[in-house]
Amino acid sequence: MTTFVLATANPHKSLEMRAVLSELGVELLERPDDVPEVDETEATLEGNALLKARTLVAATGRAAIADDTGLFVDALEGRPGVFSARYAGEHASYDDNVAQLLGELEAVPQESRAARFRTVIAVVYPSGEELCVEGVLEGRIATGRRGANGFGYDPVFEVLGTGGRTLAELTPEEKNALSHRGRALRALAQVLAASS
Ligand code: IMP
Repeated sequence: MTTFVLATANPHKSLEMRAVLSELGVELLERPDDVPEVDETEATLEGNALLKARTLVAATGRAAIADDTGLFVDALEGRPGVFSARYAGEHASYDDNVAQLLGELEAVPQESRAARFRTVIAVVYPSGEELCVEGVLEGRIATGRRGANGFGYDPVFEVLGTGGRTLAELTPEEKNALSHRGRALRALAQVLAASS
């Protein structure tokens, strides 16, 4: 059984990562409470994921796993991207960020609202060995919120190939089966299996 310390303290992400990884034979340890939150200062998802994982390795001496996710909207030239968590300001809530997004896209017609989620997952070992994998989910930004599941931008992200359902209208199992995070985690499992 492979064991990693999980860098994220976000309970939604943690739940999704556990659900997928437990089926793939990977055990996750909670991030210790005394390890401070890492400022995401890098310009890329890869950079931030590596930063978070390296911090956990330094603090715990154990192999660590971290994810960084961004929503990239074509009509906004890729924004909010790496700034997805802080789109409406430094301490913005999920709801603030969604309102900001819907506001900026108000005049943009349905056919021009294409977007994608990208998740990069980094694994860092105490030896210094590092690896990154990526998962992408294509979709479109809805004109309003729909669905009660998930978190973040889920209520306004219509998933390509689902008849226009938003991520928040999918069950947790459906989301994990096709999401950016689920895809990145399964890519990770393949890399780990190939190197063991
Ligand atoms: P982070 O920097 O990886 O924590 O993610 C940046 C922001 O993207 C978060 O604050 C969420 O608002 C959003 N986000 C991350 N993952 C998801 C997801 O799976 N669905 C919807 N929004 C997400």
